Amino acid sequence: MLKRFCQRNFLILVIFIPVVLSSYFSQVQAQEKSPLVLEPLPFAQDALEPFISSHTLGFHYGKHHAAYVDKANELLKGNPLASKSIEEIIKETAGKSDQVPLFNAVAQSWNHAFFWKCLKPKSTGKPEGKIAKMIDDSFGSYDKFKEEFVKTGVSLFGSGWVWLVLDGEKLQIVKGFNAETPLTKNQKPLFVIDVWEHAYYLDFQNRRSDYLKAILENLVNWDFVASNL
Ligand SMILES: [Fe+2]
Repeated sequence: MLKRFCQRNFLILVIFIPVVLSSYFSQVQAQEKSPLVLEPLPFAQDALEPFISSHTLGFHYGKHHAAYVDKANELLKGNPLASKSIEEIIKETAGKSDQVPLFNAVAQSWNHAFFWKCLKPKSTGKPEGKIAKMIDDSFGSYDKFKEEFVKTGVSLFGSGWVWLVLDGEKLQIVKGFNAETPLTKNQKPLFVIDVWEHAYYLDFQNRRSDYLKAILENLVNWDFVASNL
């Protein structure tokens, strides 16, 4: 009798303890899951050569972008904002003096992830369809758009981003200093180029305009840009 009781309870323990432990650990893992994830690049690290070298991309994505994601996750540990989306965190921390480090880390994480999607190897070089017409209507021609985009990038003092945005019904080229992003200004980001020195210095040294032209003429993913309309 006692033997049968022990056997039955032993079996219950053997079956249920692993189930209970596994459920507990998966809950702990879920709670500890980092709010931000470093998504893989949408192309191979050497796919943008000769315009952006594998060496530059290795540092830019693997060190700079990764560091922003790590920093954001560190600052979001135990922070009630951690349950929100990255876009919501950016909007809630923008312009708040006590949230500058978190804003910088999340906005830079978002900006970089968006930037990678704006690029592709062997681009056709020119937009087509609706976005092409909007560019012609807003800037006069695609060449004039490129000219203004490069001019805006070169005139940005210090570090930042050059964006093509939809502001209401109108296309605009705007500067973003440091980690600034159009998401906080009710503008729809369509396309961006990173003009922090870490983005181009190894390949172009101080020739920021050559870097901007190289991307505009060879690496723009116009399908992605058009999908943001
Ligand atoms: Fe960057």
